[in-house]
Amino acid sequence: MVDPATNSEARHPTVADAAPATRLWGGRFSASPSEALAKLSVSVQFDWRLAPHDLASSRAHARVLHRAQLLTDDELSAMLGALDALEDDVRSGTFRPTIEDEDVHTALERGLLERLGSTGGKLRAGRSRNDQIATDLRLYLRVAVRQLAVALLDLAEALSDQADRHVDTPAPGMTHLQHAQPVSFGHQLLAHVQPLLRDVSRLRDWDVRAAVSPLGAGALAGSSLPLDPARTAAELGFTGVTENSIDAVSDRDFAAEFLFVAALAGVHLSRIGEEMVLWTTSEFGWIELDDRYATGSSIMPQKKNPDVAELARGKSGRLIGSLVTLLTVLKGLPLAYDRDLQEDKEPVFDAIDTLATVLPALTGTIGTMTVRADRMSASAPSGFSLATDVAEHLVRQGVPFRDAHEAVGHLVVWCSSHDVDLHEVSDADLAAISPHLTPEVRAVLSVPGALAARSAPGGTAPSRVREQLDRVRRAITDGRAWATAG
Ligand code: ARG
Repeated sequence: MVDPATNSEARHPTVADAAPATRLWGGRFSASPSEALAKLSVSVQFDWRLAPHDLASSRAHARVLHRAQLLTDDELSAMLGALDALEDDVRSGTFRPTIEDEDVHTALERGLLERLGSTGGKLRAGRSRNDQIATDLRLYLRVAVRQLAVALLDLAEALSDQADRHVDTPAPGMTHLQHAQPVSFGHQLLAHVQPLLRDVSRLRDWDVRAAVSPLGAGALAGSSLPLDPARTAAELGFTGVTENSIDAVSDRDFAAEFLFVAALAGVHLSRIGEEMVLWTTSEFGWIELDDRYATGSSIMPQKKNPDVAELARGKSGRLIGSLVTLLTVLKGLPLAYDRDLQEDKEPVFDAIDTLATVLPALTGTIGTMTVRADRMSASAPSGFSLATDVAEHLVRQGVPFRDAHEAVGHLVVWCSSHDVDLHEVSDADLAAISPHLTPEVRAVLSVPGALAARSAPGGTAPSRVREQLDRVRRAITDGRAWATAG
Protein backbone atom coordinates (compact mmCIF):
# COMPACT_ATOMS: atom_id res chain seq x y z
CA MET A 1 0.00 0.00 0.00
CA VAL A 2 1.17 3.54 -0.63
CA ASP A 3 1.50 5.18 2.71
CA PRO A 4 0.78 8.90 2.40
CA ALA A 5 3.08 9.48 5.33
CA THR A 6 6.01 8.38 3.21
CA ASN A 7 4.69 9.19 -0.22
CA SER A 8 4.85 12.89 -0.82
CA GLU A 9 3.05 12.65 -4.13
CA ALA A 10 0.10 10.97 -2.49
CA ARG A 11 0.15 13.50 0.28
CA HIS A 12 0.13 16.46 -2.03
CA PRO A 13 -1.56 15.42 -5.25
CA THR A 14 -1.22 18.20 -7.79
CA VAL A 15 -3.47 19.33 -10.56
CA ALA A 16 -0.79 18.20 -12.99
CA ASP A 17 -1.37 14.65 -11.74
CA ALA A 18 -5.04 14.88 -12.48
CA ALA A 19 -6.70 12.30 -14.67
CA PRO A 20 -10.10 13.03 -16.21
CA ALA A 21 -12.55 13.65 -13.39
CA THR A 22 -14.35 10.55 -12.10
CA ARG A 23 -16.73 12.15 -9.68
CA LEU A 24 -19.18 9.70 -8.19
CA TRP A 25 -22.04 12.19 -8.35
CA GLY A 26 -21.87 14.26 -11.57
CA GLY A 27 -25.27 13.45 -13.14
CA ARG A 28 -27.51 16.14 -11.70
CA PHE A 29 -24.92 18.94 -11.92
CA SER A 30 -24.34 21.21 -14.88
CA ALA A 31 -21.14 22.78 -13.52
CA SER A 32 -18.01 21.28 -12.01
CA PRO A 33 -17.19 22.02 -8.40
CA SER A 34 -15.38 25.25 -7.72
CA GLU A 35 -11.72 24.95 -6.90
CA ALA A 36 -12.38 26.25 -3.42
CA LEU A 37 -14.98 23.57 -2.73
CA ALA A 38 -12.79 20.85 -4.21
CA LYS A 39 -9.90 21.95 -2.01
CA LEU A 40 -12.05 21.92 1.11
CA SER A 41 -13.73 18.62 0.43
CA VAL A 42 -10.81 16.50 -0.80
CA SER A 43 -9.77 13.81 1.68
CA VAL A 44 -7.71 11.53 -0.52
CA GLN A 45 -4.45 13.00 0.79
CA PHE A 46 -5.18 11.33 4.14
CA ASP A 47 -7.76 8.61 3.49
CA TRP A 48 -5.59 6.91 0.87
CA ARG A 49 -4.17 4.67 3.55
CA LEU A 50 -7.59 2.99 3.64
CA ALA A 51 -7.12 1.72 0.08
CA PRO A 52 -6.32 -1.92 0.97
CA HIS A 53 -9.43 -2.10 3.16
CA ASP A 54 -11.63 -0.43 0.56
CA LEU A 55 -10.42 -3.00 -1.98
CA ALA A 56 -11.13 -5.86 0.43
CA SER A 57 -14.67 -4.66 1.03
CA SER A 58 -15.11 -4.19 -2.73
CA ARG A 59 -14.21 -7.85 -3.30
CA ALA A 60 -16.69 -8.96 -0.66
CA HIS A 61 -19.36 -6.71 -2.14
CA ALA A 62 -18.73 -8.05 -5.65
CA ARG A 63 -19.32 -11.62 -4.42
CA VAL A 64 -22.56 -10.61 -2.79
CA LEU A 65 -23.74 -8.88 -5.98
CA HIS A 66 -22.91 -12.07 -7.86
CA ARG A 67 -24.87 -14.22 -5.43
CA ALA A 68 -27.78 -11.83 -5.87
CA GLN A 69 -27.44 -12.43 -9.62
CA LEU A 70 -26.56 -8.80 -10.23
CA LEU A 71 -23.19 -9.86 -11.69
CA THR A 72 -22.70 -12.82 -14.06
CA ASP A 73 -19.99 -15.41 -13.44
CA ASP A 74 -17.81 -13.75 -16.07
CA GLU A 75 -18.42 -10.30 -14.68
CA LEU A 76 -17.49 -11.46 -11.21
CA SER A 77 -14.22 -13.03 -12.28
CA ALA A 78 -13.34 -10.01 -14.40
CA MET A 79 -14.21 -7.74 -11.48
CA LEU A 80 -12.10 -9.72 -8.99
CA GLY A 81 -9.22 -9.87 -11.47
CA ALA A 82 -9.34 -6.11 -11.97
CA LEU A 83 -9.50 -5.49 -8.22
CA ASP A 84 -6.45 -7.73 -7.71
CA ALA A 85 -4.56 -5.92 -10.47
CA LEU A 86 -5.54 -2.59 -8.96
CA GLU A 87 -4.36 -3.72 -5.54
CA ASP A 88 -0.97 -4.69 -7.01
CA ASP A 89 -0.69 -1.30 -8.67
CA VAL A 90 -1.69 0.50 -5.48
CA ARG A 91 0.92 -1.45 -3.56
CA SER A 92 3.69 -0.79 -6.07
CA GLY A 93 2.73 2.85 -6.43
CA THR A 94 1.91 2.47 -10.13
CA PHE A 95 -1.61 3.60 -9.35
CA ARG A 96 -1.86 6.78 -7.32
CA PRO A 97 -4.64 9.11 -6.32
CA THR A 98 -4.83 12.53 -7.93
CA ILE A 99 -6.29 15.75 -6.61
CA GLU A 100 -9.34 15.20 -8.80
CA ASP A 101 -10.19 12.02 -6.97
CA GLU A 102 -11.85 13.60 -3.92
CA ASP A 103 -11.46 10.52 -1.77
CA VAL A 104 -10.14 6.96 -1.64
CA HIS A 105 -13.41 5.53 -2.97
CA THR A 106 -13.39 7.83 -5.99
CA ALA A 107 -9.75 7.09 -6.75
CA LEU A 108 -10.27 3.34 -6.58
CA GLU A 109 -13.40 3.48 -8.75
CA ARG A 110 -11.34 5.33 -11.33
CA GLY A 111 -8.66 2.65 -11.10
CA LEU A 112 -11.26 -0.08 -11.51
CA LEU A 113 -12.88 1.59 -14.53
CA GLU A 114 -9.43 2.05 -16.12
CA ARG A 115 -8.80 -1.68 -15.78
CA LEU A 116 -12.25 -3.10 -16.40
CA GLY A 117 -14.19 -0.61 -18.46
CA SER A 118 -17.86 0.09 -17.83
CA THR A 119 -18.52 -3.20 -15.99
CA GLY A 120 -16.60 -1.57 -13.15
CA GLY A 121 -19.58 0.72 -12.68
CA LYS A 122 -21.71 -2.23 -11.51
CA LEU A 123 -19.82 -2.48 -8.25
CA ARG A 124 -21.46 0.61 -6.85
CA ALA A 125 -24.92 -0.99 -6.75
CA GLY A 126 -26.28 -1.39 -3.24
CA ARG A 127 -23.58 0.49 -1.42
CA SER A 128 -22.67 4.07 -0.66
CA ARG A 129 -19.54 5.82 0.38
CA ASN A 130 -21.31 6.26 3.70
CA ASP A 131 -21.33 2.57 4.58
CA GLN A 132 -18.01 2.07 2.77
CA ILE A 133 -16.10 4.62 4.81
CA ALA A 134 -17.55 3.37 8.09
CA THR A 135 -16.50 -0.15 7.08
CA ASP A 136 -13.03 0.86 5.90
CA LEU A 137 -12.20 2.75 9.06
CA ARG A 138 -13.24 -0.17 11.26
CA LEU A 139 -11.18 -2.56 9.13
CA TYR A 140 -8.17 -0.26 9.28
CA LEU A 141 -8.41 0.20 13.04
CA ARG A 142 -8.85 -3.51 13.75
CA VAL A 143 -5.45 -4.10 12.14
CA ALA A 144 -3.84 -0.98 13.59
CA VAL A 145 -4.87 -1.66 17.19
CA ARG A 146 -3.21 -5.06 17.01
CA GLN A 147 0.04 -3.42 15.93
CA LEU A 148 -0.43 -0.88 18.69
CA ALA A 149 -0.97 -3.68 21.22
CA VAL A 150 2.32 -5.29 20.15
CA ALA A 151 4.16 -1.98 20.59
CA LEU A 152 2.59 -1.47 24.05
CA LEU A 153 3.58 -5.01 25.01
CA ASP A 154 7.14 -4.43 23.79
CA LEU A 155 7.34 -1.51 26.18
CA ALA A 156 5.77 -3.59 28.96
CA GLU A 157 8.41 -6.22 28.30
CA ALA A 158 11.33 -3.77 28.36
CA LEU A 159 10.06 -2.44 31.71
CA SER A 160 9.59 -5.99 33.00
CA ASP A 161 13.12 -7.00 31.99
CA GLN A 162 14.52 -4.05 33.94
CA ALA A 163 12.18 -4.88 36.82
CA ASP A 164 13.49 -8.44 36.81
CA ARG A 165 17.04 -7.15 37.39
CA HIS A 166 15.92 -4.88 40.22
CA VAL A 167 13.44 -6.83 42.28
CA ASP A 168 15.89 -6.64 45.19
CA THR A 169 17.04 -3.08 44.57
CA PRO A 170 15.60 -0.76 47.23
CA ALA A 171 14.49 2.65 46.03
CA PRO A 172 12.80 5.54 47.78
CA GLY A 173 9.06 5.17 47.22
CA MET A 174 7.36 8.53 46.93
CA THR A 175 4.06 10.18 47.65
CA HIS A 176 3.72 13.91 46.92
CA LEU A 177 7.17 13.45 45.35
CA GLN A 178 8.53 13.18 48.90
CA HIS A 179 10.23 10.11 50.31
CA ALA A 180 7.48 7.94 51.76
CA GLN A 181 8.51 4.30 52.23
CA PRO A 182 11.26 2.24 50.62
CA VAL A 183 10.09 0.08 47.72
CA SER A 184 11.64 -2.44 45.38
CA PHE A 185 12.66 -0.59 42.21
CA GLY A 186 11.30 -3.59 40.30
CA HIS A 187 7.94 -2.97 41.95
CA GLN A 188 8.04 0.67 40.87
CA LEU A 189 8.80 -0.31 37.26
CA LEU A 190 6.02 -2.89 37.26
CA ALA A 191 3.67 -0.17 38.48
CA HIS A 192 4.16 1.33 35.03
CA VAL A 193 3.56 -2.02 33.34
CA GLN A 194 0.12 -2.55 34.89
CA PRO A 195 -1.47 0.46 33.09
CA LEU A 196 0.01 -0.73 29.79
CA LEU A 197 -1.54 -4.15 30.29
CA ARG A 198 -4.86 -2.47 30.99
CA ASP A 199 -4.44 -0.48 27.75
CA VAL A 200 -4.03 -3.72 25.83
CA SER A 201 -7.03 -5.18 27.59
CA ARG A 202 -9.02 -2.08 26.62
CA LEU A 203 -8.02 -2.57 22.99
CA ARG A 204 -9.27 -6.15 23.19
CA ASP A 205 -12.58 -5.03 24.66
CA TRP A 206 -12.77 -2.33 22.00
CA ASP A 207 -12.28 -4.90 19.28
CA VAL A 208 -15.31 -6.90 20.40
CA ARG A 209 -17.55 -3.86 19.90
CA ALA A 210 -15.79 -2.66 16.74
CA ALA A 211 -16.11 -6.00 14.97
CA VAL A 212 -19.52 -5.36 13.42
CA SER A 213 -19.91 -4.52 9.76
CA PRO A 214 -21.84 -1.46 8.57
CA LEU A 215 -21.58 -2.63 4.94
CA GLY A 216 -25.07 -3.04 3.50
CA ALA A 217 -26.48 0.02 5.24
CA GLY A 218 -26.07 1.92 1.97
CA ALA A 219 -26.48 5.66 2.32
CA LEU A 220 -28.61 5.23 5.44
CA ALA A 221 -31.70 3.06 4.88
CA GLY A 222 -30.33 -0.28 3.72
CA SER A 223 -30.74 -1.61 0.19
CA SER A 224 -33.67 -2.72 -1.90
CA LEU A 225 -31.34 -5.16 -3.66
CA PRO A 226 -31.16 -8.72 -2.31
CA LEU A 227 -27.72 -8.31 -0.69
CA ASP A 228 -26.38 -10.41 2.15
CA PRO A 229 -24.64 -8.18 4.70
CA ALA A 230 -23.88 -11.14 6.96
CA ARG A 231 -21.83 -12.73 4.19
CA THR A 232 -19.77 -9.61 3.50
CA ALA A 233 -19.31 -9.19 7.24
CA ALA A 234 -17.98 -12.73 7.63
CA GLU A 235 -15.71 -12.38 4.61
CA LEU A 236 -14.19 -9.24 6.10
CA GLY A 237 -13.56 -10.90 9.46
CA PHE A 238 -16.35 -9.13 11.33
CA THR A 239 -18.31 -11.07 13.92
CA GLY A 240 -21.67 -9.60 12.96
CA VAL A 241 -23.55 -6.81 11.22
CA THR A 242 -24.87 -3.54 12.57
CA GLU A 243 -28.48 -3.68 13.75
CA ASN A 244 -29.62 -0.34 12.42
CA SER A 245 -28.63 1.09 9.04
CA ILE A 246 -29.01 4.70 10.23
CA ASP A 247 -26.75 4.07 13.19
CA ALA A 248 -24.38 2.11 10.96
CA VAL A 249 -23.43 5.19 8.92
CA SER A 250 -23.64 7.75 11.75
CA ASP A 251 -21.84 5.89 14.47
CA ARG A 252 -18.24 6.79 15.20
CA ASP A 253 -18.22 5.44 18.75
CA PHE A 254 -15.59 2.96 17.66
CA ALA A 255 -13.29 5.81 16.62
CA ALA A 256 -13.96 7.88 19.74
CA GLU A 257 -13.49 4.87 21.98
CA PHE A 258 -10.23 4.03 20.26
CA LEU A 259 -9.07 7.62 20.70
CA PHE A 260 -9.87 7.44 24.39
CA VAL A 261 -7.74 4.32 24.75
CA ALA A 262 -4.97 6.02 22.75
CA ALA A 263 -5.19 9.18 24.87
CA LEU A 264 -5.09 7.19 28.09
CA ALA A 265 -2.11 5.19 26.82
CA GLY A 266 -0.51 8.57 26.01
CA VAL A 267 -1.10 9.65 29.60
CA HIS A 268 0.58 6.47 30.82
CA LEU A 269 3.59 7.10 28.60
CA SER A 270 3.69 10.66 29.85
CA ARG A 271 3.85 9.51 33.45
CA ILE A 272 6.68 7.10 32.63
CA GLY A 273 8.41 9.93 30.74
CA GLU A 274 8.08 12.31 33.67
CA GLU A 275 9.64 9.83 36.10
CA MET A 276 12.50 9.20 33.69
CA VAL A 277 13.13 12.92 33.37
CA LEU A 278 13.36 13.14 37.15
CA TRP A 279 15.49 10.02 37.49
CA THR A 280 18.08 11.30 35.02
CA THR A 281 18.62 14.61 36.86
CA SER A 282 21.86 14.93 38.80
CA GLU A 283 19.74 15.39 41.93
CA PHE A 284 18.27 11.90 41.52
CA GLY A 285 20.90 10.23 39.34
CA TRP A 286 19.04 6.91 39.44
CA ILE A 287 19.37 6.10 35.76
CA GLU A 288 21.74 6.85 32.95
CA LEU A 289 20.54 6.87 29.36
CA ASP A 290 22.33 5.05 26.60
CA ASP A 291 23.94 7.49 24.15
CA ARG A 292 21.68 6.20 21.37
CA TYR A 293 18.64 7.37 23.29
CA ALA A 294 19.80 10.76 24.56
CA THR A 295 20.51 14.09 22.93
CA GLY A 296 23.05 16.83 23.42
CA SER A 297 22.99 20.59 23.50
CA SER A 298 24.25 22.85 20.74
CA ILE A 299 25.92 25.17 23.25
CA MET A 300 26.51 23.23 26.47
CA PRO A 301 28.98 20.44 25.74
CA GLN A 302 28.28 18.56 28.98
CA LYS A 303 24.56 18.07 28.38
CA LYS A 304 22.83 14.74 27.96
CA ASN A 305 19.11 15.27 27.65
CA PRO A 306 16.20 12.85 28.04
CA ASP A 307 14.34 13.99 24.91
CA VAL A 308 12.59 10.68 24.32
CA ALA A 309 11.03 10.84 27.76
CA GLU A 310 10.07 14.47 27.23
CA LEU A 311 8.51 13.79 23.85
CA ALA A 312 6.60 10.86 25.33
CA ARG A 313 5.28 13.33 27.90
CA GLY A 314 4.60 16.01 25.29
CA LYS A 315 2.88 13.79 22.73
CA SER A 316 0.19 12.95 25.26
CA GLY A 317 -1.14 16.47 24.69
CA ARG A 318 -1.62 15.68 21.07
CA LEU A 319 -3.33 12.34 21.77
CA ILE A 320 -5.74 13.96 24.21
CA GLY A 321 -6.35 16.67 21.58
CA SER A 322 -7.34 14.06 19.00
CA LEU A 323 -9.95 12.59 21.32
CA VAL A 324 -11.38 16.02 22.06
CA THR A 325 -11.39 16.88 18.35
CA LEU A 326 -13.51 13.89 17.44
CA LEU A 327 -15.91 14.21 20.35
CA THR A 328 -16.44 17.84 19.40
CA VAL A 329 -17.08 16.92 15.76
CA LEU A 330 -19.65 14.31 16.81
CA LYS A 331 -21.47 16.41 19.37
CA GLY A 332 -24.82 17.59 18.04
CA LEU A 333 -24.56 15.93 14.62
CA PRO A 334 -27.97 14.93 13.28
CA LEU A 335 -28.39 11.39 11.98
CA ALA A 336 -27.50 9.87 9.59
CA TYR A 337 -24.35 10.70 7.62
CA ASP A 338 -23.02 14.29 7.57
CA ARG A 339 -19.87 15.39 5.85
CA ASP A 340 -18.52 16.51 9.22
CA LEU A 341 -17.83 12.82 9.75
CA GLN A 342 -14.96 13.05 7.30
CA GLU A 343 -13.13 14.80 10.16
CA ASP A 344 -12.96 11.47 11.99
CA LYS A 345 -9.94 10.15 10.14
CA GLU A 346 -7.08 12.58 10.76
CA PRO A 347 -7.29 12.37 14.56
CA VAL A 348 -7.45 8.58 14.36
CA PHE A 349 -4.50 8.34 11.96
CA ASP A 350 -2.51 10.86 13.94
CA ALA A 351 -3.05 8.90 17.15
CA ILE A 352 -1.96 5.68 15.48
CA ASP A 353 1.12 7.33 13.94
CA THR A 354 2.04 9.16 17.13
CA LEU A 355 1.97 6.02 19.26
CA ALA A 356 3.76 4.03 16.57
CA THR A 357 6.60 6.57 16.73
CA VAL A 358 6.78 7.15 20.47
CA LEU A 359 6.50 3.58 21.70
CA PRO A 360 9.59 2.05 20.02
CA ALA A 361 11.71 5.03 21.10
CA LEU A 362 10.58 4.73 24.70
CA THR A 363 11.01 0.95 24.63
CA GLY A 364 14.58 1.37 23.37
CA THR A 365 15.33 4.02 25.98
CA ILE A 366 14.12 1.85 28.83
CA GLY A 367 15.68 -1.33 27.49
CA THR A 368 19.13 0.29 27.26
CA MET A 369 19.19 2.54 30.34
CA THR A 370 21.61 1.83 33.16
CA VAL A 371 20.11 1.76 36.62
CA ARG A 372 22.36 3.25 39.32
CA ALA A 373 21.25 0.78 41.99
CA ASP A 374 23.93 2.04 44.42
CA ARG A 375 22.64 5.63 44.42
CA MET A 376 19.04 4.59 44.54
CA SER A 377 19.54 2.20 47.45
CA ALA A 378 21.64 4.72 49.34
CA SER A 379 18.81 7.21 49.34
CA ALA A 380 16.08 4.64 50.08
CA PRO A 381 16.17 5.21 53.87
CA SER A 382 16.60 8.98 53.69
CA GLY A 383 13.76 11.30 54.55
CA PHE A 384 12.94 9.05 57.54
CA SER A 385 11.27 6.62 55.20
CA LEU A 386 11.37 3.86 57.83
CA ALA A 387 9.17 5.84 60.22
CA THR A 388 6.09 3.81 59.30
CA ASP A 389 8.01 0.64 60.08
CA VAL A 390 8.72 1.92 63.59
CA ALA A 391 5.06 2.84 64.07
CA GLU A 392 3.90 -0.57 62.86
CA HIS A 393 6.44 -2.24 65.15
CA LEU A 394 4.85 -0.44 68.09
CA VAL A 395 1.42 -1.55 66.91
CA ARG A 396 2.63 -5.14 67.00
CA GLN A 397 3.68 -4.46 70.63
CA GLY A 398 0.09 -3.49 71.41
CA VAL A 399 0.44 0.32 71.19
CA PRO A 400 -2.63 1.95 69.57
CA PHE A 401 -1.64 3.25 66.13
CA ARG A 402 -2.67 6.76 67.08
CA ASP A 403 -0.17 6.79 69.96
CA ALA A 404 2.50 5.07 67.86
CA HIS A 405 2.09 7.68 65.11
CA GLU A 406 2.46 10.45 67.66
CA ALA A 407 5.59 8.92 69.26
CA VAL A 408 7.30 8.38 65.91
CA GLY A 409 6.34 11.90 64.85
CA HIS A 410 8.20 13.22 67.90
CA LEU A 411 11.15 10.99 67.06
CA VAL A 412 11.30 12.43 63.53
CA VAL A 413 11.19 15.99 64.80
CA TRP A 414 13.96 15.17 67.29
CA CYS A 415 16.09 13.62 64.53
CA SER A 416 15.53 16.58 62.22
CA SER A 417 16.54 19.10 64.82
CA HIS A 418 19.63 17.08 65.80
CA ASP A 419 20.42 16.32 62.16
CA VAL A 420 20.66 12.56 62.68
CA ASP A 421 18.93 9.55 61.17
CA LEU A 422 16.50 7.28 63.01
CA HIS A 423 19.08 4.58 63.74
CA GLU A 424 21.54 7.09 65.20
CA VAL A 425 19.43 7.96 68.27
CA SER A 426 20.75 6.52 71.53
CA ASP A 427 18.62 4.27 73.75
CA ALA A 428 18.42 6.99 76.35
CA ASP A 429 17.25 9.57 73.85
CA LEU A 430 14.69 7.14 72.44
CA ALA A 431 13.28 6.56 75.89
CA ALA A 432 13.24 10.29 76.59
CA ILE A 433 11.31 10.99 73.41
CA SER A 434 8.64 8.37 74.22
CA PRO A 435 8.39 5.46 76.65
CA HIS A 436 7.13 3.33 73.74
CA LEU A 437 10.48 3.69 71.94
CA THR A 438 12.44 0.79 73.43
CA PRO A 439 15.78 -0.35 71.93
CA GLU A 440 13.88 -3.15 70.09
CA VAL A 441 12.68 -0.62 67.51
CA ARG A 442 16.15 -0.86 65.96
CA ALA A 443 15.18 -4.28 64.61
CA VAL A 444 12.91 -2.66 62.03
CA LEU A 445 15.35 0.05 60.95
CA SER A 446 16.60 -1.90 57.96
CA VAL A 447 15.60 -1.20 54.38
CA PRO A 448 15.73 -4.85 53.20
CA GLY A 449 13.73 -5.77 56.32
CA ALA A 450 11.17 -3.07 55.51
CA LEU A 451 10.78 -4.40 51.97
CA ALA A 452 10.52 -8.05 53.01
CA ALA A 453 7.96 -7.16 55.66
CA ARG A 454 5.50 -5.78 53.09
CA SER A 455 4.55 -9.23 51.93
CA ALA A 456 0.79 -8.81 51.71
CA PRO A 457 -0.55 -9.51 48.17
CA GLY A 458 0.46 -6.73 45.80
CA GLY A 459 3.07 -5.45 48.27
CA THR A 460 6.67 -4.52 47.60
CA ALA A 461 8.27 -7.59 49.27
CA PRO A 462 10.63 -9.09 46.70
CA SER A 463 8.81 -12.43 46.96
CA ARG A 464 5.54 -10.71 45.98
CA VAL A 465 7.22 -8.69 43.23
CA ARG A 466 8.49 -11.94 41.70
CA GLU A 467 4.99 -13.37 41.70
CA GLN A 468 3.73 -10.19 40.07
CA LEU A 469 6.46 -10.40 37.46
CA ASP A 470 5.42 -13.96 36.60
CA ARG A 471 1.82 -12.88 36.09
CA VAL A 472 2.93 -9.87 34.04
CA ARG A 473 5.01 -12.09 31.78
CA ARG A 474 2.04 -14.39 31.25
CA ALA A 475 -0.21 -11.43 30.44
CA ILE A 476 2.33 -10.16 27.90
CA THR A 477 2.43 -13.56 26.20
CA ASP A 478 -1.35 -13.74 26.19
CA GLY A 479 -1.64 -10.22 24.76
CA ARG A 480 0.84 -11.01 22.01
CA ALA A 481 -1.09 -14.17 21.10
CA TRP A 482 -4.26 -12.10 20.68
CA ALA A 483 -2.54 -9.34 18.72
CA THR A 484 -0.83 -11.67 16.27
CA ALA A 485 -3.57 -14.31 15.80
CA GLY A 486 -4.84 -14.71 12.25
N1 ARG B 1 -14.79 11.04 2.26
C1 ARG B 1 -16.03 10.78 2.91
C2 ARG B 1 -15.79 10.61 4.43
O1 ARG B 1 -14.70 10.41 4.79
C3 ARG B 1 -16.65 9.54 2.40
C4 ARG B 1 -18.13 9.53 2.49
C5 ARG B 1 -18.69 10.59 1.59
N2 ARG B 1 -20.11 10.53 1.60
C6 ARG B 1 -20.85 11.53 1.07
N3 ARG B 1 -22.12 11.39 1.16
N4 ARG B 1 -20.30 12.60 0.56
O2 ARG B 1 -16.68 10.69 5.22
